Amino acid sequence: MKLMYTLREADSHALSTVMGEDERLMYCLPYNIEGDRFVSGYMAFTNKKIYKILEGKVLATHNLSAMSDFVCEVMYGSGGFYAKENGYTKLLCQFSSGRYLPRYSVIAKACELLASGISDKPITSNEPERFCSVCNRPYIKGTAICPYCRNKSDVYKKLWGMTKGLRLILFFPVFAALTSMILQFVVPAIQKIAVNKYIQPAEGIQRGAISHFLVIVVAIVTLDLFHRAISVIQGRMASISGNRFTIMLRNLLYEKIQSLSLSSIQRRSTGDLMGRINSDVNTVQSFIVGQLPNLVVQGMSFVIALTLLLYMNWVMCLFVFVPLPIAIFCIYKFWSNIQQRNRKNWVLGNRTNRMLQDIFNGIRVVKSFGNEERESKKFAESTYRHTKNSESNAKVFDTFFPILGFIVRFGSYLILLYGNVRLFSGKMDIGTLHQFTSYSNIIYGPLIWITFIPRNISNFLTSLGKILEILEEEPEVSDIDLPIDIKIEGDISIRNITFGYESYNPVLENISFDIHKGEMIGIVGHSGSGKSTLINLIMRLYDVNEGEILIDSVNIKDISQNALRSQIGVVLQETHLFSGSIHDNIRYSKPHATDEDVIHAARMANAHDFIVNLPEGYNTIVGEKGYTLSGGERQRVAIARALIHNPSILILDEATASLDTETEALIQEALSRLMKNRTTLAIAHRLSTLRNADRLIVLDQGKLIESGTHSELMALKGRYYSLVMAQRRSAINLIRT
Ligand SMILES: Nc1ncnc2c1ncn2[C@@H]1O[C@H](COP(=O)(O)OP(=O)(O)OP(=O)(O)O)[C@@H](O)[C@H]1O
Ligand SMILES: [Mg+2]
Repeated sequence: MKLMYTLREADSHALSTVMGEDERLMYCLPYNIEGDRFVSGYMAFTNKKIYKILEGKVLATHNLSAMSDFVCEVMYGSGGFYAKENGYTKLLCQFSSGRYLPRYSVIAKACELLASGISDKPITSNEPERFCSVCNRPYIKGTAICPYCRNKSDVYKKLWGMTKGLRLILFFPVFAALTSMILQFVVPAIQKIAVNKYIQPAEGIQRGAISHFLVIVVAIVTLDLFHRAISVIQGRMASISGNRFTIMLRNLLYEKIQSLSLSSIQRRSTGDLMGRINSDVNTVQSFIVGQLPNLVVQGMSFVIALTLLLYMNWVMCLFVFVPLPIAIFCIYKFWSNIQQRNRKNWVLGNRTNRMLQDIFNGIRVVKSFGNEERESKKFAESTYRHTKNSESNAKVFDTFFPILGFIVRFGSYLILLYGNVRLFSGKMDIGTLHQFTSYSNIIYGPLIWITFIPRNISNFLTSLGKILEILEEEPEVSDIDLPIDIKIEGDISIRNITFGYESYNPVLENISFDIHKGEMIGIVGHSGSGKSTLINLIMRLYDVNEGEILIDSVNIKDISQNALRSQIGVVLQETHLFSGSIHDNIRYSKPHATDEDVIHAARMANAHDFIVNLPEGYNTIVGEKGYTLSGGERQRVAIARALIHNPSILILDEATASLDTETEALIQEALSRLMKNRTTLAIAHRLSTLRNADRLIVLDQGKLIESGTHSELMALKGRYYSLVMAQRRSAINLIRT
């Protein structure tokens, strides 16, 4: 990430006049808010001072030796860089958050090192740059590619790469279209012979002309039939190759989405991802199968027609091109407008999809709040905006392109005029004029088609761009080149880890503790203290920002993700069951599990009894999210699912939260059996469930504040003690009422 921006000349000059001899410029960052206006200023950080520079003037100077507690604060839509100076907290500068907040948070650490005198060497940030240095827009996430500044040929190259293995079948429609295009040229040539030799011959009609003429008619009919047959084959092949291409691209996208890190998937809505897999792939497919062969054909027919026209009469041929400069000028002026319109339409369509997805997913909440009407209205508004935008685009396109078509075709009127003048003056025969106008009609085909191509290409590029955004994204969590497939025993060592979903906003800070094989560790803390985050890191759903996590003394970054996760059993806070039978859901993590394995796991999770009482037992289909089961039942199926592959490490995030006391007791009993010989990490708000843990870890605002057994922590009378007492009090109050 860039921490040294280049100062403008006036600013650089202003800085050089105030900087001392022994000062070195170490970092320089822009800031863009001053009071209530947008500005374009810089903060320059030397080894001794901080300077605030705006429009060639140094506005403020701060001595690092008098400063401490450097922090970045997120405000509404902006960020602020604060520090204590002589004991008072001061706002040093303000900036728009997304772009500069991560940079200033690194600088805050750097300033801390400089001010405390620990180090005066510049630090670097290995966080990748996220904004384009040319246009300042964000890069495609996880890449250093700017969708606006990228080379278009690079996009086509990528597309070409994707067609590997399908090129032959994709080429056939092109070949068929080329054949029918060549026939287009042959027919007028034969017609010319028919007119000049047999219909209106200069030397009068000869004997036997009729039979020759009939041969020509038969030839024309045969060629036409041949042309139609080729069209049929072309259509069929286009459909086959189109479908294969779609399947290939959809699978590619789907696999890629699966491999992406959780954070990047969560950043996008389901509707957005589905839109890319469905409609964007369709747009790209129809361009490749429908438009691309046409592009080749139209290009070739243009070249052939042009050569023939030039050969026949170059003066008349020039008339074709008279209106072209005007047409090119219009397209050039209109192109960026078309691109913008298409992008806006994509965003509006995508938003509508997202909304639909969201409402259907949360239909229970919608109904329970009686908000159907409001949601329908919201959806109608969104659809209306999308439709309005599409209509407005259609209006513009449907006006612009016919006008453009007329401009392009204007040359044909000139040809007709000039040709007839030559015909009347006897300088041209009627057959040649006929052939010439036929070829000029052919040449207008590609020319008019080309006027439509910006619209098609623009749609295609928008969709392809959206697909490439996903395909090019580097997963944030990825395997090293030669990952290790270890058999996990269960020792976990957490060493000085710091992590934030956004690097500038740590959720866990400097956490260290060890877990030995077979231990049961309870993680306790207020809601939002980072408990689930900690187990996400152990499962390596996210990578730590600092520090390391070792399993059996191996850094989890060196273990293959597959080996790691297949040996960890998890019951997460939100239980998700897939559409399918209970049986299939339980063996999800071990697809080849036998019926005995499934039943054994269900018994262990105390789920067997309720499952066999269901109308179809293990074959009961649980709908999307398992709606037909109660929360507690779902949770027990999830526990069985986590156990079936006999994991070395078991992670339970509020696994018993939605159970009644009786069921919980059953589960607790089952779990305590299961925890034997397994390393277990359990999170529970109901602290009584963790009483038997070998050790408890207490988190508070991302920091580990206490650890020990239940009795040790109770004796300590710290945070754990107060949490337990608070729960006891509320339980007693509950009984009294
Ligand atoms: N995917 C995410 N992206 C950004 N921030 C997140 C994400 N998940 C959690 N957070 C934030 O991280 C912090 C810790 O969340 P976490 O889920 O670890 O808390 P928790 O201790 O498990 O809470 P609870 O007991 O309510 O489950 C919270 O402030 C939360 O808002
Ligand atoms: Mg949680």
